[in-house]
Amino acid sequence: MKVDQLEGVTFGSVVTDVSLESLSASEWNELYELWIDRALLIFPQAHLTAEGQDDFAQRFGTLEFSRAPISNIGKDGKVHYENSDEVVKSLRGNEGWHHDSTYMPLQAKGAVFSAEIIPSSGAATGWADMRAAYEDLDDEARAHVSTLRAYHSLYYSQGRSGYLPDKKNDDGTYGLYGYHNMEVSLRPLVKVHPVTGKPNLIIGRHAHDIVGMEKDHSQKFLDELNDWACQPPRTYHHDWEVGDAVVWDNRRLQHRGTPFDMTEPRRMWHTRIAGDPSSELAINHQIDAIPSDNVERHPTGTWAC
Ligand SMILES: [Fe+2]
Repeated sequence: MKVDQLEGVTFGSVVTDVSLESLSASEWNELYELWIDRALLIFPQAHLTAEGQDDFAQRFGTLEFSRAPISNIGKDGKVHYENSDEVVKSLRGNEGWHHDSTYMPLQAKGAVFSAEIIPSSGAATGWADMRAAYEDLDDEARAHVSTLRAYHSLYYSQGRSGYLPDKKNDDGTYGLYGYHNMEVSLRPLVKVHPVTGKPNLIIGRHAHDIVGMEKDHSQKFLDELNDWACQPPRTYHHDWEVGDAVVWDNRRLQHRGTPFDMTEPRRMWHTRIAGDPSSELAINHQIDAIPSDNVERHPTGTWAC
């Protein structure tokens, strides 16, 4: 196994000369330690099979959901590109920095993500290191953010971007993944990573309405913090090649999609690893209160991030 650290970035490693579908025990141990340390592992030309991707993801923990497409190719097989299209709206929302599933009762632990069909240009995926961001704040700011809590909601993030789905159910809900009608998840702005014990920011596009802060002030505060946090040397963008795969630590990193010409087809595969209730549960949720049927496939064929 060959490991090269990303240069000029606070996180991330490129791993080659390893077969993710036939790891030895020692290779797995080395990979896991590296993942905890570097938070993003990139495997060029891994060419994971469908089963192999989920099996690899399951080494990190139970799955929030198994391998699913993040794609502008709809269930109908057609390429979706109109801005008003439901598939496109979901994808465009992903272009804002975020941690996956902070709007759910249980924030995701991480994800395995791979490229099957890529457009001729654009469509890089970016990650941003929220541990480095926390550490780079001055003492006063670190102390301040450590006292704050914010709500996380997909209704909020998609609504603010103008990407809410058009069709509602009769009861006003959408019945889509992440658009649940449970209490909106409340999370501290600073999370202590359950393995490293090191604190990092949990912010991004789903975060809103800091408790005890006036609405406009909260929005401005979160926007400025996020804009500052997601800057070099704390960011890295990966230009995909067909067959590349990555795994990231969603407890520490934010990520985002970037634009591409949506008249061209793109199909990525995403396997989401569930957070641990002892460390990823929202303040105001209890694990036994989460209905097991709240995980529904997105009818457009793509997924909320
Ligand atoms: Fe995402």
